[in-house]
Amino acid sequence: VTKINAHPHLDCTSQLALVHNGIVENYEELKKSLIARGHKFVSETDSETIIHLIEEYAKKYSFPEAVRRAFRRLEGLNAIIVLSLKENKIVAAKTGSPLVAGIGWKGNFIASDAIALLPYTRRIIFLEDGQVVTLDKDKIRLVDLTGKKLRPKIQKINWKIEEVSLGKYPHFMIKEISEQPKIIQNIILNSDKQIKRLASLIKKAYGTYFVGCGTAAYACLCGQYLFSRIGQRHVNFAFGSEFGYQLDFLTPKSLVLALSQSGETIDIIESVGKAKKKGVKIACLVNNLGSTLYRMSDFKMLLGAGPEKCVLATKSFTAKLAILILLAYQLAGSLEKGKKALKKAVLATEEILQKKYQAKIKTLANKLASCKHIYIIGRGQSYPIALEAALKIKEVSYIHAEGFAAGELKHGVIALVEKGTPCLVFAPNDETYGAVLSGAMEMKARGGYIIGISPQNHEVFDYYLPVTDCGEATAIPNTVVAQLLAYKLALKLGCDPDKPRNLAKSVTVK
Ligand code: G6P
Repeated sequence: VTKINAHPHLDCTSQLALVHNGIVENYEELKKSLIARGHKFVSETDSETIIHLIEEYAKKYSFPEAVRRAFRRLEGLNAIIVLSLKENKIVAAKTGSPLVAGIGWKGNFIASDAIALLPYTRRIIFLEDGQVVTLDKDKIRLVDLTGKKLRPKIQKINWKIEEVSLGKYPHFMIKEISEQPKIIQNIILNSDKQIKRLASLIKKAYGTYFVGCGTAAYACLCGQYLFSRIGQRHVNFAFGSEFGYQLDFLTPKSLVLALSQSGETIDIIESVGKAKKKGVKIACLVNNLGSTLYRMSDFKMLLGAGPEKCVLATKSFTAKLAILILLAYQLAGSLEKGKKALKKAVLATEEILQKKYQAKIKTLANKLASCKHIYIIGRGQSYPIALEAALKIKEVSYIHAEGFAAGELKHGVIALVEKGTPCLVFAPNDETYGAVLSGAMEMKARGGYIIGISPQNHEVFDYYLPVTDCGEATAIPNTVVAQLLAYKLALKLGCDPDKPRNLAKSVTVK
């Protein structure tokens, strides 16, 4: 990462500027021929090749035509935005990474994510792969890669501008954590129709796969437990990046349910795209309307979590959990029971968000901030929550944290526990309670410092964080405790909670 390698990149005349997302797989050969034609390169990026190639075509063609022709020469998955100073136009094109154009009253806009355009407009064109858009101050022209004119499809997004500003909060992470009760409440009230339709698709399917990456993957895994226990139904789970290797037995009767906040994660898009080619039915739970996954799915359900700006996924995770809980109950023919459990989860989450409770978490964070490792255990549906809790802590505080299935402790992990090692224990009032506590005791016997997250205190806990029992929805408030702990750890350690190092909100490039 250097200033020279940073975007935008300019052509030799500094009249054209480019930003690029993707990888130009054939850039070396293009670069060689451009250098032979006298082009001067200043960076080490593949991106710079594109702007010189456009400059070359612009000697013969109009600016939009030059961009289209140059873009056709690129191999790989790419999105570009090119500005011409002379013509006062922007031309953008994509094959893979996301691009959205916005139609405003005072000009037109282009970005990689609709959230960026919210301050200016809510009228959006989601670009498809192989489209090239030219923006003037008052005109938008869309063509395909062959130059054929296309009619733009304008969609209105109903997110509000307040949703993308901090308001009274110091960071988006805490703002988004705090929004969770409202979002779940909304899911309880407004998703019956969609839940019933999706549940009937799952019922009809001959084999269902849940697919996701990162936090969304843990929601999938939690869904697997919920579907087994409540819905009495087996579903498979795969990480987006691994799913492509498990397609062999899929048929047009199979169903894939892809979970993604952004709807743009390349590992999901690619593997789910392969399944689609085999005729598999695709359903999705996404937060971003119009995203690639949304567009490629046969059945789509929005999370309704509002824009999530913090790189860490928080509210999108619990929104997915809430929907999966309702789906599982619907499969069991008792949707109302699911709603009741979620209502309890809303109240339990509100308690956790209280100042007094947050102060308790802060005290714990201050205690743990100097630790090198934190271990987290759970069983059953608390196992994916342990994984998610560890991910949150790692992502934002850079403390090494690992989540484990408590029963696996004795198979190796216990060797890592020493005097003072902090161990978070999820011990809800379910069938896992006794067994997870015996895991906690094993850790304590090796010197572990046990932090219990449970409806009731227990003598094995050195530190206790109470969470009201919400039946099968307890995973939601348990997650919120972990989110807050991660946030407080980040603050204590001086880390930026919204933009952790080395991470991206959506990973659109392989
Ligand atoms: C990135 C983010 C994670 C997120 C993952 C999947 O790695 O940093 O927070 O869980 O992508 O994102 P998605 O948009 O597909 O849910």
